[in-house]
Amino acid sequence: MVDAGFFEGGFGILREGESLVLPLAAGAKPPPAWGEIVQRDFPSFETSGSTDYRDMLRWTPEDRARLPRSFDVVGDIVLVRLPSELEDRREEVGEALLAFVPSARLVGLDRGVQGPERRRAVERIAGKGPWSTRHRENGLAFDVDVARAYFSPRLAREHERVAAQVTEGDRVYDLCCGVGPFAVTIARDRRAKVVTAVDANPAAIELLRGTLRRCSFRDRVEPVESRLEEFLPRAEPRERVVLNLPLEGIKYLPSVARAVSPLGCLYYYEVVGRADAETRTEAIVSALGGSAAWRVADRHVVHPYSPASDLVAFVLARSGD
Ligand SMILES: C[S@@+](CC[C@H](N)C(=O)[O-])C[C@H]1O[C@@H](n2cnc3c(N)ncnc32)[C@H](O)[C@@H]1O
Repeated sequence: MVDAGFFEGGFGILREGESLVLPLAAGAKPPPAWGEIVQRDFPSFETSGSTDYRDMLRWTPEDRARLPRSFDVVGDIVLVRLPSELEDRREEVGEALLAFVPSARLVGLDRGVQGPERRRAVERIAGKGPWSTRHRENGLAFDVDVARAYFSPRLAREHERVAAQVTEGDRVYDLCCGVGPFAVTIARDRRAKVVTAVDANPAAIELLRGTLRRCSFRDRVEPVESRLEEFLPRAEPRERVVLNLPLEGIKYLPSVARAVSPLGCLYYYEVVGRADAETRTEAIVSALGGSAAWRVADRHVVHPYSPASDLVAFVLARSGD
């Protein structure tokens, strides 16, 4: 729209109640349907053409530098983490993000995921409406509720990467599936015969069922509300298994190993200290049953997790026995 010549670059957007006030370029004549033309003082970006929401805040450069540069967008919800010393200014940050992200309806302060179901603790700091939304990734639309079931937009490439490796007729388990992004992305490609998606959180399975109602390939996905402790002992081995429970998945690996067919593949995710990658790899192979039966086919960083650790993907190939 800036290219269309209507808007003046270098200025922030204002929100007034239900309306957005945009900085028009001198002499611009926007279509009448856009609303009335008013006079306002707009916050100017410190650097012209800024792509940083922090430039919209009239704070000292030192205070702005203490804010995180990045934030997550899930559907029409923006999630941001704040250092505790800036929490009392959270509403200003929320309003800046609401104005900065064109698709934003609601901004939440993200206090991290908690408990066995990894539900996100969120507090509304700007905007309105529910925590449920529809998130688009890899050409699919997922039903998500950021407060009731785990979802991270930072795993999109990983969902696609695993789906691309599935071959014709594979049977798949997506263990700890959350709202099912691995399962649905795999099923969409129509090579997998069946994808069984298992999670202990009833809200996650309900959201997955909602997503599947819109999918023509829904018959290939079998949502199961169960804890791994009950599901795994009666699970027949399958060609591909995903386990994304990054902080405690290791304790399930002995029983997960039995759910992978000979020549099958396990996609396993773990948070790993930057200095610990080799020792963790050995511990994972050992928990599965040892290097005679398991080979590390790939290991890569998915994204940084904390200043000293990463979320790491391990692709583990089982031998033919
Ligand atoms: C990190 S989330 C994984 C989300 C999903 N795989 C994705 O890519 O978005 C972990 C999930 O594991 C589930 N979970 C935790 N412990 C479990 C258990 N013992 N049995 C089954 N599911 C469990 C949680 O409810 C949560 O949805």
